Amino acid sequence: MRKPDIFDEIIQCLKAGEKTGADTSMSEETLNVFLHPIRGNAGNAPLAAARSRPEVRAAVPAPVMRPQRQVAPAPVQAPPPQNIQGVPPAYAPDMPEWESLRTECAACMKCGLGKTRTNMVFADGNPHAELMFIGEGPGADEDATGVPFVGRAGELLSRMIAAMTFDRKTETCIANIVKCRPPGNRNPADDEAAACMPYLKRQIAMVNPKVIVLLGAVPLLYLFNLKGITKLRGRWLDYNGIPAMPTYHPAYLLRNPPAKKDAWADLQAVMAVFGRKPAPRR
Ligand code: URA
Repeated sequence: MRKPDIFDEIIQCLKAGEKTGADTSMSEETLNVFLHPIRGNAGNAPLAAARSRPEVRAAVPAPVMRPQRQVAPAPVQAPPPQNIQGVPPAYAPDMPEWESLRTECAACMKCGLGKTRTNMVFADGNPHAELMFIGEGPGADEDATGVPFVGRAGELLSRMIAAMTFDRKTETCIANIVKCRPPGNRNPADDEAAACMPYLKRQIAMVNPKVIVLLGAVPLLYLFNLKGITKLRGRWLDYNGIPAMPTYHPAYLLRNPPAKKDAWADLQAVMAVFGRKPAPRR
């Protein structure tokens, strides 16, 4: 059985708090462990330091800049015809442009990945969500189901999202740099990312999230032309006026569990934009 990790603990804390209704706020010291895990790392707090770096455009924390939007309820979902394992990706019948883009992507043969895919993997969650996650590209499980982040990395991402007190299906929208599986789970090639990028850009424009979370080096490279996830994680970037937070990819966190503390610090910065409280103490 899998060993419980930091995200399980946080979820347990949340559940305990829900049950008892008691004020179980996390202590300052505990919080600091999450927020400032690495000495000398710029982390989330010194936005000024990030601003001074020419390649990093620090985003102004969103709440003061952008009006609060109501997140629309999750759309009623019809079972997708392409799905072979009964895991339905989110459909948005109330957003026809989203559905027509999905149809366009399903027919796409702009790069070689179109020939080898089982399913095009469009997105998961709610296209009306205020929080958007962007990963690399589908793996074998995603290729089989047509849904992003359903394998082991996806399971961890779901727990990270729950630890953030967000509901994956209704409060987040999840997409990838490429919509078809790169064979052998390699990173997408430049030409594949370039062919798929216009679709992702249209998705981001439609979702118009309050915050984007970049999962790993691949979205950092192809959305910002930046390299160095280890240095840049935890520092706000700006994607056309939308604050974007780079953090580690869940697959990397599975291989390097100690890095979960850093990822949690990054996610806490994102939570702060939404005014979400850290997990209560058990
Ligand atoms: N890794 C990703 O980056 N995306 C997925 O959809 C699954 C695994």
